Amino acid sequence: MTENVRLIRRTDLETPDGVFTLALSAGDLSSLYPGMTRYALSLSRGAEVIGTFLTNTYEYSPTVSLDAETAALQKAAAWERELRENRDRFLAVLGKKIQKRPYALPISDVAVIQGSPRADGNCSIMAGWVVEAAEAAGKTVQVIYPDDLDIHPCIGCYRCYNTGVCAFEDDMVDVIRVITHSSLLVICSPVYTNTVPGGLKIVIDRCQTFHAAKTLGIAGKMPDSLLFAVCGRKGLSNFASLTSVVGAFVGNLGIRLAGEVLVDGVDHLRDVRLVDGLEEQVKERVRSCLLSPPPGP
Ligand SMILES: Cc1cc2nc3c(=O)[nH]c(=O)nc-3n(C[C@H](O)[C@H](O)[C@H](O)COP(=O)(O)O)c2cc1C
Repeated sequence: MTENVRLIRRTDLETPDGVFTLALSAGDLSSLYPGMTRYALSLSRGAEVIGTFLTNTYEYSPTVSLDAETAALQKAAAWERELRENRDRFLAVLGKKIQKRPYALPISDVAVIQGSPRADGNCSIMAGWVVEAAEAAGKTVQVIYPDDLDIHPCIGCYRCYNTGVCAFEDDMVDVIRVITHSSLLVICSPVYTNTVPGGLKIVIDRCQTFHAAKTLGIAGKMPDSLLFAVCGRKGLSNFASLTSVVGAFVGNLGIRLAGEVLVDGVDHLRDVRLVDGLEEQVKERVRSCLLSPPPGP
């Protein structure tokens, strides 16, 4: 994505502590979303950038009287006033490092998202097979259980399109870190009312931040992915919506879906371990992804 940037205004402020420069620019992101503009305000002294404020037009509902350009101009005016009137206190607050939450989930070669809320259900059993296959291939593996985590649903604020980072600092920070460091992302999911369970859907929606980072040109390499899904009813048509959701998810992020195994009629058997050859099929998919990955881009 190319962002066309125009300078709206630049102000040099002479102070006893040197010359501070406030620069406000607008970047055209309409190739990403119709009419999207991102405003960037920066405060610098010489080559040192002291603070930045980013906002975009999609953050502001048409029903509110504030818009992105006004918000950016107001911020620029407020910073200028603070620099003139309360410089020491203002610079101290702006320069304060934000305490980041510690990471809890270790990074690994393989990230498994186990989307069923049932800790001992079919998807958990399949996630266990993935762990065994990955470890047998000499890889580290991490199973993520969305229902055990504190992950706020996406609120569509579009603030991730300013920085490539979500506004919420909850457990999704860890999940994103694990996914970006893995070479293989495995999704294990049951069909719930034709689609994925709510906890997994929240994770999928929150991954929009990857899309933002990708379009801003700051995303790293994406892992390959595999999908292992189960449903109660008989017939592969029961997976139509789930595969469409997962397909949209990986497609949106530029993740290659390297394969899928869909197991229907499981309510009848109640246990995937009773499906002939399934364990070997799942493990083989994992093995072939890890041992003979596709050639690079
Ligand atoms: C809330 C809920 C909704 C479900 N919706 C469907 C469905 O739409 N179609 C289907 O075939 N099975 C449906 N199922 C059955 C599950 O997909 C099936 O029991 C699956 O094996 C559960 O996986 P798990 O053991 O990993 O939790 C549903 C189950 C639950 C609890």
